[in-house]
Amino acid sequence: MDSSDYSKARPIALRVNGTLYQSTAEPRQHLADHLRGELRLTGTHVGCEHGVCGACTVLVDGVSARSCLMLAVQCEGADIRTVEGLAHADGELNPLQQAFHELHALQCGFCTPGILMSLTELLASHDDPDEQQVRDVLSGHLCRCTGYQNIVAAALRAVQTLRAGKA
Ligand code: FES
Ligand code: FES
Repeated sequence: MDSSDYSKARPIALRVNGTLYQSTAEPRQHLADHLRGELRLTGTHVGCEHGVCGACTVLVDGVSARSCLMLAVQCEGADIRTVEGLAHADGELNPLQQAFHELHALQCGFCTPGILMSLTELLASHDDPDEQQVRDVLSGHLCRCTGYQNIVAAALRAVQTLRAGKA
């Protein structure tokens, strides 16, 4: 590839939250900017843009990823999930979102989308995560609101709700 090609936008098709989006992206554009700027999915937030804060976390094929560290063109063919895809189709919050709402785990809200996506991965891969596992996940999110107490409580409430639903 000629070095000038890196600034040329090219067609790209991404599946996000089950919907196929056809757009264009420069090869150097990261996924977070593509989601926000091209697809108008602005629920994914951008903080540090170098993989530290976790605000931009999305799921790529079910695995949490810093969307500021992935190129949009890398994600062709992948199944991407963002915070917009968490609620039910009728707008009803899922158990994790509902617990955040009830326990005021949002704080200022800036980190919430990324935290929700990381916790979604945890809840999908563990039936009964304990407080330490929740805190381990949250350690990947640098939040200026600090505290994390209500976030931990909400995650543990969601665990209980999901377990009750399976019983
Ligand atoms: S914006 Fe991606 S980790 Fe901070
Ligand atoms: S929720 Fe406020 S900075 Fe993290």
